[in-house]
Amino acid sequence: MILVFIGTAGSGKTTLSAAFGRYLEENGYSVGYVNLDTGVKSLPYRPDVDVRESVTAWELMEEGLGPNGAIVESYDRLLPEVDEYASRIARLDGERDYIMVDTPGQMETFLFHEFGVRLMESLPEPLAVYLFGPEILKEPHDFCFVRFFSLMIDLRLGTTTVPALSKVDTVEDLEGYRKFLDDIEYLTARLKLEPSTQGLLAHKMCSALPELAPPTRVVYLSARTGEGFDELETLAHEHRCTCGDLT
Ligand code: GTP
Repeated sequence: MILVFIGTAGSGKTTLSAAFGRYLEENGYSVGYVNLDTGVKSLPYRPDVDVRESVTAWELMEEGLGPNGAIVESYDRLLPEVDEYASRIARLDGERDYIMVDTPGQMETFLFHEFGVRLMESLPEPLAVYLFGPEILKEPHDFCFVRFFSLMIDLRLGTTTVPALSKVDTVEDLEGYRKFLDDIEYLTARLKLEPSTQGLLAHKMCSALPELAPPTRVVYLSARTGEGFDELETLAHEHRCTCGDLT
């Protein structure tokens, strides 16, 4: 079972890959770890597959490229090896119960570069976990944004994507967040009261969400306390057994 953690820089992908992997190992499962970030210096887990074996952004910066150019160039150089990496991850998946795939720090590197898209197409039924931190959820339309972004990842990568709020140990009013994220009807009704252009757009988008979005529930995770790990394990299990119905 391959779990692919995707999210903006600092959303908690690396910490969660390590913490959730450890949780699974403590529960008797064998776990493999994959690092797809050419720019990371140290990791809290020991990767079984690591793209830094081929190239690092750091060495390209030493050749004179800037940080963003080095990241893009590193995935250009990895592209000819994408099938080899996909085979190695698939082989690891055959040997272990769960595979944690930690994606590049900046999400656009994975979603917009052919390396990420082709890799995901080649993996056997991966489950993408879209991580977003509580700091981006300020207005009602932000909740609509993250639900749609999850859908966009699904569209781009062709992979079932679970939206996941990370760092919930830092959230005081989790129930308030849950109301907006879990109950699309409630969110849509609340958005109807928003006078702004964004509110109007979000209301129209959220009204269409039940029809567009696959039946997937949101998970609430903390890599620090382990909150939500049992729920993520259940979802991963359901994904494997039922191939897509994650209501
Ligand atoms: P990149 O380095 O850009 O790849 O970020 P990332 O998405 O891998 O995030 P990372 O795991 O490096 O975490 C970013 C910061 O958030 C670190 O300071 C972590 O300690 C912190 N963090 C990660 N998960 C949690 C969590 O569940 N709770 C809290 N409070 N902090 C967290």
